[in-house]
Amino acid sequence: MRVALLLLLSVLVPAAAQAETPGEKLFNRKCTMCHKVNGRGGEIGPDLGRVASRLSGAQLQAKVMYPKKSAPSTSMPSFATLPATEMDALLSYLKTLR
Ligand code: HEC
Repeated sequence: MRVALLLLLSVLVPAAAQAETPGEKLFNRKCTMCHKVNGRGGEIGPDLGRVASRLSGAQLQAKVMYPKKSAPSTSMPSFATLPATEMDALLSYLKTLR
C-alpha cells in the first residue's frame, strides 16, 4: 500500500512542478508573439528571458500598462485594461525571469 502511494506521488509531483502558472499562461497567450523566453517566441520585441534582472517590479508594471511612456514609438500595445488578478499573476511570472 505504502509503495503504491509512493509510486503515485512520484508520478504526480513532477507533473505538478511543470504545470504552467496562471501568469505564464497569460504571458504565452498575450506576449510570446512578440517576445522570447527560453528561446521560444517572437522577434518583434526584446528577449524577456532575463527581464527581471534589468527592470524592477514597478518598471515591469509601468511597461506592461503604459509601454509608450518609456518608448513613444513602440509597437507594444497597452495592457492597462487587464483585470487586477491577471495583472498580478502576469507580474509575478515576469519577476521570475532573471
Ligand atoms: C506587438 C508586439 C508586442 C506585444 C504583443 C508585447 N510586446 Fe512587449 N515590447 C514590444 C516591443 C517592440 C518592445 C521594445 C520597445 C519598448 O520598450 O516598448 C517591448 C518591450 C517590452 C518590455 C521592456 C523590455 C526591456 O528590456 O526594456 C517589457 C517588460 C515587455 N515588453 C513586456 C511585455 C509583456 C509582459 C507583454 C504581454 C502582456 C508584451 N510585452 C506584449 C512588443 C510587444
